[in-house]
Amino acid sequence: EQKQMQDEKESMFLVSKFASEWFAGQLKTDEGRAIGYSYFKERGFTDETINYFQLGYSPEQWSAFTDAAIKAGYKVDFLEKTGLTIVKDDKQFDRFKGRVMFPIRSMSGRVLGLGGRILDSSKKAAKYLNSPQSEIYDKSKVLYGIYEAKQAMAKEDLCYLVEGYTDVIQLYQAGIQNVVSSSGTALTTEQIRLISRLTKNITVLYDGDAAGLRAAIRGIDLILEAGMNVRVCTFPEGEDPDSFAKSHTESEIRTFLKDNAVDFIRFKSGLLKDEAAGDPIKKAGMIREIVQSISKIPDEISREIYVQESAAILDIGEDVLFSTLAQMRNAEI
Ligand code: CTP
Ligand code: MN
Ligand code: MN
Ligand code: MN
Ligand code: MN
Repeated sequence: EQKQMQDEKESMFLVSKFASEWFAGQLKTDEGRAIGYSYFKERGFTDETINYFQLGYSPEQWSAFTDAAIKAGYKVDFLEKTGLTIVKDDKQFDRFKGRVMFPIRSMSGRVLGLGGRILDSSKKAAKYLNSPQSEIYDKSKVLYGIYEAKQAMAKEDLCYLVEGYTDVIQLYQAGIQNVVSSSGTALTTEQIRLISRLTKNITVLYDGDAAGLRAAIRGIDLILEAGMNVRVCTFPEGEDPDSFAKSHTESEIRTFLKDNAVDFIRFKSGLLKDEAAGDPIKKAGMIREIVQSISKIPDEISREIYVQESAAILDIGEDVLFSTLAQMRNAEI
């Protein structure tokens, strides 16, 4: 049974590899060139980038991919198990059609799944469609770009964490290569563990909107709990790393990151400061929020250092912060 499961996974990997190569090849057809390739060009991606990330195109037809895969000898069973093909009433349909394709690879470079972006955002369908959960694809355990970024992450001893596929690609192309994406899903402990194999330092670069802010706040505590260091860099309202990187040079981007990435205490206090100004109850709430984050840090010395920093930033005594911290840690145990 174990063996059969292993064979099944192997077949799913092979189908996924075929798919990403086939979609990439479609960029060279008339339709793919006119629609998919020119879409990527409009986004500012070079040929080198398109090849490096193995970007592709799935034609606007019911079963072009499935037909090609079957013709190449792949079994419908595995096409269906990976979600590339949808079988309904004995008919087969492509899951991704009329979309540009982003293969999602494992740390070792195997294609686990794919994301497909719609070309016309005014259409009712979801902007991005992703492979469904399967034996080889679990969205909570993958990070888009990890294969492409792993060397730079280890070398720079830093991971930039972004929301989307195109954020990874655009930053990478701009020269910032230590970047991965949680692909829209809330960051998970498994994803953080993947990063921690390469570096203990994460800088969160989420979109400059309310959703991005919420996601960053949630992510902070998980990263701290893993014993890692977290900084946050907020983008201007309405911008994401992709749009920012597209309109700036590498040195402008690096300067922006250097000037705007702050540790989590400054990030949280910055968010809440205006709100809390002149309101002691709100200020107390804000202080508790920050101590709550500190309480997640496993290492005592780090907690102590952060308490000292918070006391200075929040203009409050260390003693009261330490006693609040002790209460929170006791409550958690
Ligand atoms: N996402 C998704 N399904 C959606 C919307 C988003 O899976 N319907 C994921 C994608 O991985 C996407 C990420 O969440 O890249 C971030 O979402 P968003 O900021 O909306 O998209 P962008 O990456 O900015 O996409 P684009 O620039 O292409 O519009
Ligand atoms: Mn967004
Ligand atoms: Mn975005
Ligand atoms: Mn975007
Ligand atoms: Mn500029």
